Amino acid sequence: MLPTHPESLLIARSLHKEYDRHPVVKDLNLAIRPGEVYGLLGPNGSGKSTTIRMLTGILEPTKGTVSVCGHDMKRSPEMAKASLGYVPDEPVLYEKLTALEFLDFVGELYSLPKAVRRAAMREMLHLLDLEDRSGDRIESYSRGMKQKVAISAALLHNPQVLIMDEPITGLDPITVRVLKGMLRKMARSGAAILLSTHILEVAERLCDRIGILVDGFLVAEGTMAELSAKAPEMSVGGTTLEDIFVGLAAGEEHKDIIDSLEADEREASIASPRGGGPANQERNVGA
Ligand SMILES: Nc1ncnc2c1ncn2[C@@H]1O[C@H](COP(=O)(O)OP(=O)(O)OP(=O)(O)O)[C@@H](O)[C@H]1O
Ligand SMILES: [Mg+2]
Repeated sequence: MLPTHPESLLIARSLHKEYDRHPVVKDLNLAIRPGEVYGLLGPNGSGKSTTIRMLTGILEPTKGTVSVCGHDMKRSPEMAKASLGYVPDEPVLYEKLTALEFLDFVGELYSLPKAVRRAAMREMLHLLDLEDRSGDRIESYSRGMKQKVAISAALLHNPQVLIMDEPITGLDPITVRVLKGMLRKMARSGAAILLSTHILEVAERLCDRIGILVDGFLVAEGTMAELSAKAPEMSVGGTTLEDIFVGLAAGEEHKDIIDSLEADEREASIASPRGGGPANQERNVGA
């Protein structure tokens, strides 16, 4: 089925990917509108990165099409990619360069005039607190600092469509807060943003709509309110995003494991309430 909204900036139609005839993404339809932040959730191996690589034109779909700002990824890849910013799951950086050199290089690739490029670089480095180290080679950075450079590079040309694969992983809470603000601001100015994450709090607070991928199928999609309202009809116990995620994505065996561990926890807390038990009192001494 065609996901319809004439304004959508990022559209996937019937995307399908097979590896050695084994399907890992199945008939996936997405349509992300301007101003929208969309969260793609799913267990490990459910197909999020594969989907994202097809959306960014890095991976060719076995079937289906992708369109970015009206440009078909297969027919006009350069036009489609020019409107796109991408943060991969593992930062791909030229580590012998300094952050300044790398961002300048990326800005040139996007044909940003020198003054615009320099202003955008200064802003990114300031927002992400990298100014002090921006003259050092990237190879000397921590993991989180490298992630910040990758994010800066993706946002430098102020893309209309931003796609990020687990951008929050490895970032400190201050940076996460800043990044959330930056993404909301981009969305307010009309960008369409898709990100994958395992952090449900981020999905709930940042994303306007959420899609849950299980075994390559988009099994649920909607605003948080829509998903919560649909929870009973999806036979999910509880209406938090975690309840919905576990209800839809966990197999029966894992649901049994979770139920059994949670029953143990309830029994233990009845026998020895948290903070009141002798073991906890002992541990609290001197704290
Ligand atoms: N190059 C490849 N060759 C064969 N199978 C692959 C390849 N890349 C991914 N897969 C398979 O495709 C499936 C989906 O992987 P993918 O990386 O998209 O998952 P994911 O949802 O991003 O997981 P995670 O949360 O761990 O990042 C997995 O079963 C994986 O083993
Ligand atoms: Mg992944």
